Amino acid sequence: MPQDQFDGRPVIGICNTWSELTPCNTHFRVLAEHVRNGVLEAGGFPLEFPVMSLGETLLRPTAMLYRNLASMDVEESIRGNPLDGVVLLAGCDKTTPATLMGAASVDLPTILVSGGPMLSGKYRGTDIGSGTNTWSMSEDLRAGKITLDEFHEAESCMHRSHGHCMTMGTASTMASMMEALGVGMPGNAAIPAVDARRNVLARMAGRQIVQLVKDQVPLSKILVKPAFENAIRALAAIGGSTNAVIHLIAIARRAGVELGLEDFDRLGRGVHTLLNLMPSGKYLMEDFYYAGGLPAVLKELGEQNLLHRDALTVNGKTMWENVKDAPCWNRDVITPFKQPFKENTGIAVLRGNLCPDGAIIKPSAATPKLMRHRGRAVVFESIEDFHKRIDDPKLDIDERSVMVLKNCGPKGYPGMAEVGNMPLPPKLLKKGVTDMVRISDARMSGTAYGTVILHISPEAAAGGALALVENGDEIELDVAKRRLELLVDKKILTERRKAWKTPKPPLDRGYWKLYFDHVLQAHQGADLDFLVGKSGAFVPRDNH
Ligand code: FES
Repeated sequence: MPQDQFDGRPVIGICNTWSELTPCNTHFRVLAEHVRNGVLEAGGFPLEFPVMSLGETLLRPTAMLYRNLASMDVEESIRGNPLDGVVLLAGCDKTTPATLMGAASVDLPTILVSGGPMLSGKYRGTDIGSGTNTWSMSEDLRAGKITLDEFHEAESCMHRSHGHCMTMGTASTMASMMEALGVGMPGNAAIPAVDARRNVLARMAGRQIVQLVKDQVPLSKILVKPAFENAIRALAAIGGSTNAVIHLIAIARRAGVELGLEDFDRLGRGVHTLLNLMPSGKYLMEDFYYAGGLPAVLKELGEQNLLHRDALTVNGKTMWENVKDAPCWNRDVITPFKQPFKENTGIAVLRGNLCPDGAIIKPSAATPKLMRHRGRAVVFESIEDFHKRIDDPKLDIDERSVMVLKNCGPKGYPGMAEVGNMPLPPKLLKKGVTDMVRISDARMSGTAYGTVILHISPEAAAGGALALVENGDEIELDVAKRRLELLVDKKILTERRKAWKTPKPPLDRGYWKLYFDHVLQAHQGADLDFLVGKSGAFVPRDNH
């Protein structure tokens, strides 16, 4: 590098989560080149660096176990190196919150560029969506309705381009959250990964980060409470993934913003789902982009006074300046607020003796007639117990039963896996049953659906009441009243608690031990306790 390339110029880190182990992020080297060109054009000095990547499909026992570890990598890489600003490249689910959490704890000027969704899946003349159709077809496979070859063929038709899952799953939800928070450029949510305009967005982000450094706009000027409130309302309007609840709380707590489950219930009330996208609806992210993308949704919210219009965004404009003239080209994909796709569908936060610190349900993905339900528990003590018994024709279960899964929370799994949307027993599937009430301390894939109560807090492995549920106990759910109750006498529960033993950590050394000892519960964002907050960019000593 000639001396004049970096002398006095803003040094911009390009934080890359590229990895062949993360198929959704394999085009990121190309994306990084576009960011680099933008930085150079604006007079900055770009330096790309790798951080731990988190691939949803391959990482075991779940990518979520490593979200906090990756965030530490990002944080220390940004702070320890002499950077003035950073562009985060993220795509597959956890790479987005992990990179932003790390960056928020350093607080340099920051822009997040999402990798973009895959093109729509095309199979035998119909559109199929990642995750959503994997779930439905794997149930068809288990019910004997399709062959394994047909399943594999459909899978290859589904994943036909670069990009992350193209349903409104967690990756697309988090990309939308970045745009709604103002941390992503307008258009960040929906431009397909292989559309040339994704590269243009990356290049514009490269130019803009240099400007943010010159204007001295740290991330904390963007990540303020009104920005999170915009994101929560946008989450309801897009029918986004329940995983966003945990990630937004964790990001907010890094940024020093107080955000809790009640904010989701309060702000989501009265917001309708405008997007007709899988898993709630029928379209896919590509359709969303052609229909106008997230700006068209945010404009609808703004017109209903459901948006903090003057929230600052990374392109230097306010949220309203960015979206007020956004057109909508397809009202079947993005419905008007007055004739929404689904009404009143914000995340509902439940309380009760089964979840004193909260649990959540996504009404837009649930069956309306099950939202008020009373049934007897069929308990699975662990995910292994579930797999062992669920296919057994003798399993004592009917469509009114409440399926209860324990020990899948932050400590219990460990890592709070996406297993909350338990597949239904084949004997009921064959009878045509399509949904049942399911309860757990786990998460659910953003591409999944059903009347599924998630994130029970405290979790079973931390001694929550969930640990005490036994087969045959009556459980009552009333979403309208926000209640979830275990109808068992207090005295009996006290007796059962005496017999309960604290589970041992699955590994007693390394990161797993650090994680087990320090992970917070779901309602606190499942961050590690010592990572909450920020330390800024200051490093007290030089290296020699
Ligand atoms: Fe990466 Fe779905 S597997 S986003």
